[in-house]
Amino acid sequence: VEWPRPLVAGNWKMNGLKSSHEVLSEIQNGYTPGLKAKVELVVCPPATLVHSFAVACVGSRVGIGGQDCHAKESGAFTGDLSAEMLADAGAAYVIVGHSERRQYHKEKDADVCAKAVAAHRAGLAAIVCVGETREEREAGRTLAVVRKQLRGSVPVDSNSRNLVVAYEPVWAIGTGLTPTAADVAEVHAAIREELKRLVGKADHARVRILYGGSVKPSNASELMAVENVNGALVGGASLVAADFLAIAGAY
Ligand code: G3P
Repeated sequence: VEWPRPLVAGNWKMNGLKSSHEVLSEIQNGYTPGLKAKVELVVCPPATLVHSFAVACVGSRVGIGGQDCHAKESGAFTGDLSAEMLADAGAAYVIVGHSERRQYHKEKDADVCAKAVAAHRAGLAAIVCVGETREEREAGRTLAVVRKQLRGSVPVDSNSRNLVVAYEPVWAIGTGLTPTAADVAEVHAAIREELKRLVGKADHARVRILYGGSVKPSNASELMAVENVNGALVGGASLVAADFLAIAGAY
């Protein structure tokens, strides 16, 4: 199977102001032709910066993504953003089902699936996040939890161009803790197997499965070398251009 390029995506979460264009410029300057050939780079800033970032990135081929979207196209949903609006603003991706959305906004698998459907409707690729909590891991339920989240969150019309899966163990997010390479390999293999059923035999091998949770320049090479790890979803380290580029450079 010939793979699409691995994807390194930065999730800026609720961080970033107009002044952050400086960070974006640094990222663009470091996205050399050599790196471009090897890795696809995407930045997911807060919604206020999606349009200006997308405009700034025309030419550099750094992609832009949103961090969430509403399932509907438009309407009386104060404070929400549709996938169509993100696409109109220049995004090509949108993160859905991040554990912070699942936790703080009570999003269930069905909600996440509806958002991914909306992303596809708008022509965006959905980055669908899954991952177990510390309690679930300690109870030995990691694979069951991740499989169930996937079955509930991945739309039936998914393919390797409109779907990216991100495995983010909740306990590894922002903590400096990471699973062992063997643990990551086990979960990513289970995700790949589940995708065989969800996406279809012909295409499942090309769907990129990202690892996320305390990815840093210091651990990126080890994590990215794991089988079925086709990139990273980076939080904190993506706010520092040099760190984000170093992680991408691990490929
Ligand atoms: O979506 C990425 C994120 O949840 C991981 O955050 O700060 O642990 O890299 P961080």
